[in-house]
Amino acid sequence: MSVTIAISGKGGTGKSTIAALVIRWLNNRGQTSVLAVDADANSNLNDLLGIGPVEAIGTIREEMKEKVNNLPGGMTKQQFLENKIHRSLVETRNFDLVAMGRPEGPGCYCYANNLLRDVLRNLSDNYQYVVIDNEAGMEHLSRRTTQQVDFLLIVTDPSVRGVQTAGRISRLLKELDTRVGHKYLVVNRARGELSPAVREQMAEEGLELLAVLPEDDAVLSQDAEGKPAYEIPAVSAICRAMDECLSRLLAG
Ligand SMILES: Nc1ncnc2c1ncn2[C@@H]1O[C@H](COP(=O)(O)OP(=O)(O)OP(=O)(O)O)[C@@H](O)[C@H]1O
Ligand SMILES: [Mg+2]
Repeated sequence: MSVTIAISGKGGTGKSTIAALVIRWLNNRGQTSVLAVDADANSNLNDLLGIGPVEAIGTIREEMKEKVNNLPGGMTKQQFLENKIHRSLVETRNFDLVAMGRPEGPGCYCYANNLLRDVLRNLSDNYQYVVIDNEAGMEHLSRRTTQQVDFLLIVTDPSVRGVQTAGRISRLLKELDTRVGHKYLVVNRARGELSPAVREQMAEEGLELLAVLPEDDAVLSQDAEGKPAYEIPAVSAICRAMDECLSRLLAG
């Protein structure tokens, strides 16, 4: 069974950066059975991981819609999709990456989506760790990448309003059919201690704090130079903070 870590939160809070650093942390511990799932339609996880463009599954699904009545030589739809997904999977020495592409409209539970979900679930079974970088909003998590999520990290900035939004995401999740083992708040880009108001808001929202990650110039300069977050120096404050919290989270 794989361990699934999903990262969600409001736009621009650092989800993709954190996803890349989780993957890096696993790799640095010799864990290379890792599937990275880019569930953001405006995917850029590949950039943060330092690899080239990825063909999104979304385009594959479009293709399947067109060809559904004319599949090559006796192939089932499931086989066709599985085949395609395996071809779009980018394999590296340290991890594999798959990108989900564009979301469907709300309320779409079409056949292709369900198939896609099954295929992703099957694919996930081949890995020890699955790390899902979500886009802002929960549709992906609920409908397209639905599988057991062991750890959901909700990322926020260190503001009262940010924590309120994280609380809303957390409640929304409860209403959706997503199965989540443990849910944690990750406060990112903190400058010093969290304010008492932020801590109060966390308590009010019933959010459990996993980590406070610092605002770090190493992240900014890496970004400014167009270099992948995956390669941020291990001595940087953010990497040390990630190391501390992931050791706790994934211990044993
Ligand atoms: N701890 C940090 N210190 C400094 N800069 C950071 C930190 N975390 C993230 N950033 C910067 O914040 C910006 C947004 O980060 P990122 O793209 O990871 O967020 P996101 O939540 O994935 O955004 P989106 O919702 O657009 O997908 C980037 O420029 C990134 O370099
Ligand atoms: Mg992102």
